[in-house]
Amino acid sequence: MCGIVGYIGHREAYPIVLKGLQRLEYRGYDSAGIALYDGKDLNLCKTKGKVADLKELLEKEMSTSGKLGIGHTRWATHGVPNDVNSHPHYSNSGNLVIIHNGIIENYDSLKKELIKRGFTFQSDTDTEVLINLIEDVMSNEKIKLGKAVQLALNQVIGAYAIAVFDKTKPNEIVVAKLGSPLAIGIGEGEFFIASDASPFIEFTDNAIYLEDHEMAIIRLDKDIKIRKIQDDSLVNPYIQKLQLNLEQIEKGGYDHFMLKEIYEQPLAIKDTYRGRLLVEEGIIKMAGIEDNMKRFLNADRIIIVACGTSWHAGLVAEYIFEDLARIPVEVEYASEFRYRNPVITEKDVVISISQSGETADTLAAIKLAKSKGAFVFGVCNVVGSSIARETDAGAYTHAGPEIGVASTKAFTTQITVLTLIALRLARAKGTMSSSDYRRQLIELELIPEKVKQALKADKHIQAIAELYKDSRNMLYLGRGYNFPVALEGALKLKEISYIHAEGYPAAEMKHGPIALIDENMPVIIIATKKGHYEKVVSNIQEIKARKGKIIGIVTEGDVSVRELADHVIEVPETLENLSPLLTTIPLQLLSYHIAVLLGKNVDQPRNLAKSVTVE
Ligand code: F6R
Repeated sequence: MCGIVGYIGHREAYPIVLKGLQRLEYRGYDSAGIALYDGKDLNLCKTKGKVADLKELLEKEMSTSGKLGIGHTRWATHGVPNDVNSHPHYSNSGNLVIIHNGIIENYDSLKKELIKRGFTFQSDTDTEVLINLIEDVMSNEKIKLGKAVQLALNQVIGAYAIAVFDKTKPNEIVVAKLGSPLAIGIGEGEFFIASDASPFIEFTDNAIYLEDHEMAIIRLDKDIKIRKIQDDSLVNPYIQKLQLNLEQIEKGGYDHFMLKEIYEQPLAIKDTYRGRLLVEEGIIKMAGIEDNMKRFLNADRIIIVACGTSWHAGLVAEYIFEDLARIPVEVEYASEFRYRNPVITEKDVVISISQSGETADTLAAIKLAKSKGAFVFGVCNVVGSSIARETDAGAYTHAGPEIGVASTKAFTTQITVLTLIALRLARAKGTMSSSDYRRQLIELELIPEKVKQALKADKHIQAIAELYKDSRNMLYLGRGYNFPVALEGALKLKEISYIHAEGYPAAEMKHGPIALIDENMPVIIIATKKGHYEKVVSNIQEIKARKGKIIGIVTEGDVSVRELADHVIEVPETLENLSPLLTTIPLQLLSYHIAVLLGKNVDQPRNLAKSVTVE
């Protein structure tokens, strides 16, 4: 979490750093700060609040000139969000300035040592400890900044992406990475630093992604030097061509990124299966699967590890893999899996699912599985992300950048990739007849059009949102393939509207949650035609008998649920295993509209961040 951005070159740094922070705000947004150096004065401004608050304050209080600048948008770990704890942080001498994304775990013992040596601290942060440690090493050893950063980092336990400069050497920025992402954009006589490439895509499409344990000394008059932090060995910089474009990271006329991303799903799903789903040939082609087919076919079981929405996609995948390919599947919260000494063997295939590809718990679960000899396959959206690099093989979702903190298109594209994999394995294992297989391919290809259809209910959903926006609780129910969709619907509502919501398998309702039902409890129930329809209708009757308000997600043309429910939202008909790709859409829109009507910050809900790089 936290976004970092920096610039050194021939342009004014402020507009670049400010815009960069706005683009990175999805990573954390409880406070923000910028430091600028114009060759004479070092100006620093930071504040609790959003980048917009920082801009207002900064432009009132300080000069914005300077061709060297660094900025930070924070998601607090150590120390509450306030002005003092915001980044950047100075060292005691006032010469060194740092921004940091990550956690220094041994900061307390380092701080005590530094206090004994006469250092003082303004903030409660681990970052201020790190910058003073660097200063201490620099002055004790009489060495340059780069070397001091290296020696200091060798004393540190934790995770970091940092950028540091010394105002007495204003043509240099030192950066380092362990566990948190860091990209360096390379322009003509200028360099950009950021947590991802979005802050600099309009300036350059050449970037270096630092690997863990690497640091770079970026000097205006020299080539970039990348070294291993532990042993000082030189690393050959690998310059990548970026695939991002500006349009992809802007709102394009929508009020919020979340809405834009909901509406992007038809295209995103198409992009996910493009080149993989070949309906005419009747095949699915995925290099990551073909190259490792034996590992998949010989697997005793598949273990899926993920967090949050990606975990929900994993739950849908459990139904798909078991149903279609007859492979046993376990779905694990990465955070639990990594700490509970799980039984993993060389015959296990682990699939890790992550939009950002940076989630700390998922990354740790992957490392654990690999250390036990399992084959690890990644399903990620962000190309070149840590998880994409750490896994043995993988498949990208190709959903394009997801900026709204609440995950939408990442979920449906993850399900699309996982469906493709399950179908390919089903074919290879012979667990599906060729006619059923063909039917699946044809139906999958129709999904983007059907998502478009489902999106047409937007206005109707907005009207329903108006009626229920003041509810204090909501219940989401679904069965089979749509049970995880109910969980996902509840999560979406909670995270952006702050209304308490629970997702349950519909039949579990009578084992407890039914006690909650009265005339004030809206129940959103997924009751599509295929998938235990009659049983779900019985559940609806149970809710109705207790005066609960029923919002049914139904198949087009449904009659029975319409008679019982207070409202119905229709989605087109499809195969049961593909239905989550459609039933998810109205739930996303319902959460979105409720949050907007309540005046919540939809794209940046409180306390959350897009990329959870701390455990
Ligand atoms: C919810 C949401 C989170 C993420 C979770 C995992 O809308 O976005 O629950 O799904 O933090 O993130 P990734 O997929 O990046 O590993």
